[in-house]
Amino acid sequence: MEFHVYESARAACEAAGMLIAAQITRKGDSVLGLATGSTPVPAYEKLVQWYQKGVIDFDRIRTFNLDEYVGIDHKNPLSYHAFMQEHLFSKVNLRPENVHLPSGHSAAAGKAYDDAIRAAGGIDIQLLGIGRNGHIGFNEPAKEFTYGTHVVTLTQNTIEANARFFKSADEVPRQAISMGIGNIMAAKCVVLVATGESKAEAVYKTIRGPITPEVPASILQLHPCCVILTDREAGSLMKD
Ligand code: GLP
Repeated sequence: MEFHVYESARAACEAAGMLIAAQITRKGDSVLGLATGSTPVPAYEKLVQWYQKGVIDFDRIRTFNLDEYVGIDHKNPLSYHAFMQEHLFSKVNLRPENVHLPSGHSAAAGKAYDDAIRAAGGIDIQLLGIGRNGHIGFNEPAKEFTYGTHVVTLTQNTIEANARFFKSADEVPRQAISMGIGNIMAAKCVVLVATGESKAEAVYKTIRGPITPEVPASILQLHPCCVILTDREAGSLMKD
């Protein structure tokens, strides 16, 4: 596991964008695992800029997003489908048929998503944010790790954290469909970005704590190619 601390949140996120751009440069038909949330926005901004300058090309790139709320229309601006359209898909030359997000709320929908990832040859680089409780994608703290894409019931902690995007906590969907820990661990390389003081404890537990499904990100200690990028605040508990 590699760990790098940056002076600012923007720098940490742009560094993540750089790692994705490098992957695209080295392999023009890469499979990218993408994330939503506020953290990755500057990474997407950099990717768009590099695309506009002709540095990177998305023509043959395939993408798979981590998660989506259940019961939210894909056109709803608060859906992760709409988020990805706004921040990346509408601004680069990704082919619509190469873009994937999980959707639905059945075991069959989860299995179909896993099959599509496998058929694409697996994920080359997976971008991750992290929840305050250590969740990745929507893999909430639990008694055991999940394997494939599955429907999750969100914890109160996550509902409250994500309420800032909605009119109130009551409007946050209670369920989501998310890649499992197995999907994330199967990615060839993982880049996790965490910024702000509210993520400091989750970062510390991810890197230094015991590997436990109670802190889903802690399993990344076992990933052969995992890079964690933080700003000073999120990395503040990582002394020495
Ligand atoms: C959501 C997403 C996660 C994301 C997390 C943190 O719960 N499902 O993928 O990492 O929020 O979001 P933010 O970056 O806005 O703090």
